[in-house]
Amino acid sequence: LWLALGIRKRQPGEPPVENGLIPYLGCALQFGANPLEFLRSRQKKHGHIFTCKIAGKYFHFLCDPFSYHAVIRQGRHLDWKKFHFSTSVKAFGHDSMDPRHGYTTENLHQTFLKTLQGEALPSLIETMMENLQSVMLQSNTLNPTQDHWDVDGIFAFCYKVMFESGYLTLFGKDLGYDKNAAHEEAQKALVLNALENFKEFDKIFPALVAGLPIHVFKSGYSARENLAKTMLADKLSKRKNMSDLISLRMLLNDTLSTFNDLSKARTHVALLWASQANTLPATFWSLLYMIRSPEAMNAAKMEVKQILERTGQHADPSKPQLTLSREDLDNMHVIDSIIKEAMRLSSASMNVRVAKEDFLLHLDNQESYRIRKDDVIALYPQMLHFDPDIYEDPLTYKYDRYLDDNRQEKTTFYREGRKLRYYYMPFGSGVTKCPGRFFAVHEIKQFLVLVLSYFDMELLDSAVKVPPLDQSRAGLGILQPTYDVDFRYKLKTP
Ligand code: HEM
Repeated sequence: LWLALGIRKRQPGEPPVENGLIPYLGCALQFGANPLEFLRSRQKKHGHIFTCKIAGKYFHFLCDPFSYHAVIRQGRHLDWKKFHFSTSVKAFGHDSMDPRHGYTTENLHQTFLKTLQGEALPSLIETMMENLQSVMLQSNTLNPTQDHWDVDGIFAFCYKVMFESGYLTLFGKDLGYDKNAAHEEAQKALVLNALENFKEFDKIFPALVAGLPIHVFKSGYSARENLAKTMLADKLSKRKNMSDLISLRMLLNDTLSTFNDLSKARTHVALLWASQANTLPATFWSLLYMIRSPEAMNAAKMEVKQILERTGQHADPSKPQLTLSREDLDNMHVIDSIIKEAMRLSSASMNVRVAKEDFLLHLDNQESYRIRKDDVIALYPQMLHFDPDIYEDPLTYKYDRYLDDNRQEKTTFYREGRKLRYYYMPFGSGVTKCPGRFFAVHEIKQFLVLVLSYFDMELLDSAVKVPPLDQSRAGLGILQPTYDVDFRYKLKTP
């Protein structure tokens, strides 16, 4: 009967198991409604590790941060590729990028490291800084003035500014861009279309990851395909100033893969999604929490003033050419902490690995558990981020939480008196840690520096509540707000 119902019986040495109430789905609905609450209640009942059946798969949730290492260090029993590659295929519809499947020999991981980090970073940052200033002040996206306030939603504002700037930074500009007004209009229309299609596709992303076929969603599907059409090689080859990431990926698609043109284009859509889907809400939360907190705002303004003085620059909206090096940005610890704290409160990523074979998982407290082949081991770092033992008063935004006594980056956090190695994980962990994380934090910093330099900003309602997190994306990264919050802005008088 157990077998017929697809229900697992706990074997000696295995973690406690919850099969849930519904065959196949298991605990999926309870988990989906509020993952943090669900996991906390099970942790209370079962302890450091327990197993939940979710949509036909068995997930072992490991809740003890001192044992995270057992999963994050790339042990020979655990596979990270299976889950990641298959999720990308499900969502974006390209052929498999797993070299084991034979469509490409590209080592994607290497491509990402080479083009998003180290020596590749300064030019990405430089281009982003130019694009942000052009979008904020010159490209008709905002048209701010000194004479009157413009009202907008903070999410809407962050979305249009960051999407356009990030899109142009990764995919470059049309060859004719800047040459004449008609070209500029066409370029603008292309970005706006991409933004609308991205928004439409992003809505159905959680459903695709959950395994629903894209054909169920007519408008989401056509949005994804419209994006892909703009990323066919003949379109991309007409663009200048493309990032190393996209130009190297185009080359490797052409030389190492057997993908057809559409499949190649869809791999670029996947990167557009990866580069924007978390950055947009992370920028929103950073700006919202900063504006809501007078102390955060003052500390950030002071930091910006100091960096501009030190680098001998002056913010002039009629000549928006501020530049900040990677080192300048790295030394902005206040704004760094403002962003970190905003992401602590809004991130809900899930880190997963798949067991390649039956093996014993050793926890920090000397206990070991038997794990079966093909089971999933999952970490849910929001449990860390909201743990009152690690972060006092965890639901409160404290802009300086990640600053030490010398106003430098704070890296020592404790739980039960023991120093933690893992206390902040919005970018995942180990081999699957987000390769774009340095660029991501730099671009949000640049955004905040620039809005503080060029604009006066105020909430419409200074006592406005922080909107709740939209849980429909739990597990996928930074959550979006359930509704937008209005603010007003105008150009500073020089
Ligand atoms: C993967 C977070 C911005 C590129 C990921 C993962 C997370 C994440 C949680 C999955 C890690 C895992 O599965 O364990 C974020 C957050 C961002 C951000 C919170 C912004 C605040 C970016 C940006 C880029 C980027 C700006 C590129 C320009 C990627 C790529 C992957 C990835 C390519 C897939 C890596 C792989 O599968 O090997 N990101 N990300 N991300 N991210 Fe980011």
